[in-house]
Amino acid sequence: MKFFVDTANLDQIRDAQDLGVLDGVTTNPSLMAKEGITGQNNILKHYVDICNIVDGDVSAEVIATDFEGMVKEGEALANLHEQIVVKLPMIKDGIKAAKYFNDKGIRTNVTLVFSAGQALLAAKAGATYVSPFIGRLDDVSTDGLGLIAEIRQIYNNYGFETQILAASVRHTMHIIDCAKIGADVITGPLSSIEGLLKHPLTDIGLAKFLADFNKGN
Ligand code: G3P
Repeated sequence: MKFFVDTANLDQIRDAQDLGVLDGVTTNPSLMAKEGITGQNNILKHYVDICNIVDGDVSAEVIATDFEGMVKEGEALANLHEQIVVKLPMIKDGIKAAKYFNDKGIRTNVTLVFSAGQALLAAKAGATYVSPFIGRLDDVSTDGLGLIAEIRQIYNNYGFETQILAASVRHTMHIIDCAKIGADVITGPLSSIEGLLKHPLTDIGLAKFLADFNKGN
């Protein structure tokens, strides 16, 4: 299972990389704006900065919503760095663009996926990753993890190689449940990954080991 962090914050990306278990980064226009990164040149430079920190795939999202625009933007993004994965919205032209990039050997991440049917189409188009947003489904009283299970079953049935990238992960239990279901990748805040470290019995046990060691020294 791959761990991606879902942020454009360079300090968080450095922290995640330092932990030694990071496989990549996902970003989107909202995450860029949150870091105050605006303007095309600054955004492109920021993608390169991220690639230079992390060993792994970095999803960079197109803004265009028409096929020609997505191709132009996506090619420019892919040319920035070999780690870039072109992120495309789950719309008709996004699917056409995913097929186009797959034929050219450029990796893609089809984003804003909220149904099994959308995930099936993305796989048919040859997307490298498909990003179902589980947290946003949970937010509207719909079963985000249930969608991951449905996609897993469909992809297994037909041997699709598209990787299920569970996105909009909000907390640590999302990661554990995604691992049980068989998602290929999760992307979420660093805090959701660091939550995996925590157990009070670990802290109590370590404190006792250290106390016992110190008794004899
Ligand atoms: O990057 C896409 C997705 O992970 C967004 O998550 O928390 O804004 O729903 P969130």
